[in-house]
Order: sequence, then C-alpha cells, then structure tokens
Amino acid sequence: MLKIGMLTSGGDCQALNAAMRGVVKGLFHKRDDVTIYGFRDGYKGLIYGHYEMLTEREFSGILTVGGTILGTSRQPFKLMREPDANGLDKVDAMKANYARLNLECLVILGGNGTHKTANLLREEGLNVITLPKTIDNDLYGTEMTFGFQSAVNIATETIDRIHTTATSHSRVFIVEIMGHKVGHVTLHAGIAGGADVILLPELPYDIDKVVDVIHTRSQVGKSFTIIAVAEGAISKQDIVLKKKEYKAKLQKHPSVAYRLAEELQAKTDKEVRITVPGHTQRGGSPCANDRVFATRVGATGAELILNHDYGYMVGMVGGDIQKIPLEDVAGKLKYVDPAGSLIKEARLIGISFGD
Ligand code: F6P
Repeated sequence: MLKIGMLTSGGDCQALNAAMRGVVKGLFHKRDDVTIYGFRDGYKGLIYGHYEMLTEREFSGILTVGGTILGTSRQPFKLMREPDANGLDKVDAMKANYARLNLECLVILGGNGTHKTANLLREEGLNVITLPKTIDNDLYGTEMTFGFQSAVNIATETIDRIHTTATSHSRVFIVEIMGHKVGHVTLHAGIAGGADVILLPELPYDIDKVVDVIHTRSQVGKSFTIIAVAEGAISKQDIVLKKKEYKAKLQKHPSVAYRLAEELQAKTDKEVRITVPGHTQRGGSPCANDRVFATRVGATGAELILNHDYGYMVGMVGGDIQKIPLEDVAGKLKYVDPAGSLIKEARLIGISFGD
C-alpha cells in the first residue's frame, strides 16, 4: 500500500486541481494500491489531523476546475515554531500525524511561505515533494509557476476592456495588478494589453516621468493613457523612507492605485480612473498553458514518488521540467530582472517604466 499525504497551502490559484490530478493519475497509472490522504485547508489539516482518504475517482473531472478541492489557508512560516492557542507544538503535530498515518511522503502545492515550511518538514526528516503554485511567479528556482499564465490572461483582458472607455472618455486609467512584492504579472499583462506605462516594484518610479508620458501622448493626439501598476510598486521618493514611515504612508490609501491616482490628479487636468481586478486574477478555470504545465509537474512529481526520490520542488529550468532541491528554493524570491531582455524590449517600443 502506497500512502501519500497531499495538501494545498497559501492563496488559491488556477491549476491546483490540474496539478494534483497529474500526480494522482501518474501514480495510479503504475500502481493500483495507492491511497491519497487529502489534508483540509493546507498545513492546518496536517497539524490538526483533518483529512479525507481519496482515490483516483476524486481527482477525475477536475482538470478545468479553479480553486482547490482540498481547500487552503495561510499558515505563516514564522508562526510554525510557535505553539497554538492550546499550547500545541505545530511541527511536532505534523510529524506525529505523518507517522500515525504511516505516510510514504507528502505532496505539497504552494508558493513562497509554503516552501519554507515544506523545507522545514524535510529538515525534520519527512519525505516531501512540492509543486510550484502562485499567480505571482515569484518562486525562486523555477522559471514558471502554475496560475501565472492564467492570471496574466485575466489581467490582460482587464486592460483590453479598459482601452475602450479610456479612449472614448480621453481618460487616464490605472489598472492595479496583483503580484505581491514582484512585478511579473504586471510586466507580462502590461505588454500583452498594450499599457503605455508599467510600474513595477523592481523599478521605482518618478511621478513626474509618468505625468510627462500623459502630456507627451496628448501632444501627439493620444488623449488617453493606460498605466499598469503592480500592487507592490513604489516611487523613488518612497523607497528611501524608513520601513515604518512607508507603512504609515501606505495606510492612507486602500492600495497603490489610489495613491498614484491622487498624485497624478494633482498634476494633470485629465480625468484619472482606477480599476482593481483583485482576486478575479486568481479565479476561474486555468488557461491551456497552465493546465499543461501543472500536468507536467504533477506527472514528474508522481515519477519522483515512485522512485522514492524526495526533497525536491518540481519546476521549470531551461524550458524543461526538472527537480530542484528544496533547500535551494526556500526563503528566496524571484524578481523581475530590471536589466532583463523583456524590460529592454518593452522600452524599445516606447513603454515607460516611469524611471
Ligand atoms: O500570492 C498570491 C496573491 O494573490 C498576491 O498576488 C496577493 O498579494 C496576495 O496573494 C493576496 O492575498 P489574500 O488572498 O490573502 O488577500
């Protein structure tokens, strides 16, 4: 009997189900004695022993389904070593449930925080395989995460749709795009959606440079401007502030788009409007590319399990599906390279980064 524990942790995204389906199909293709212990709501289920015993049937028909059939939650890594409200040692509890169920390994799907805890469990002696999930595409060690390509498509469609109102009303539109501390989704959606200005955390902006773009466009008869701003974007003025001062400044507005709108409205007579697609970027059915990528990493995850080869994230390196040691991934972020070719090419066609 092959007993596999599985959980999805952190924010949900597209293709989580597709990836789990890939693992399960890969296992059942070779063996018929597999039981999947699906832990509810991420690490919470592993800590408190909330699980369901699943077979191949439960993973069938979910390739196109958004969200996660196992549920998910955020369990901050920094609190993992702290006892819960009842004094329970969370790491001990996870190890005890793993041992009690006599699991062969854990398959953990998640992003950055999830990988830190997965690596901790590996260090504690558990067999772990992880799959790279996040719309942000900020996981170190892999060129791609599932959810990213779907989110880019949704953010692109938002920019596409904003174009009509922006042109009809000669307005400045700010579209705020998710991505936490990095700008991958914004950069890709901004280029794909034809944004005039793209503002990223990795390239602090100067508000006057953004105003210049609006005015220059007006002078050549382009009465509208579309700005794609990453939720983590920061100005040159703010980057030098102390962390505390910057936090206090952030609290004055619901999000970066509102702050930017206020700053721009004070410097232009054009109407400035905001669109924040928010969690729609994580919702719904995965795009075809995400389904393919998630299936590939799931299938390779199953292969590693069948070979008893543990301690890896399955990701993309050089366009191929590869195993990457968990200790090389945990605790590191993958940023947009400000000197990279995508930024260079965007600049070549006149996109401004406000820098
Ligand atoms: O990591 C995915 C993500 O959607 C980020 O882009 C965003 O900053 C964050 O999660 C939002 O988290 P929550 O769903 O907890 O509001």
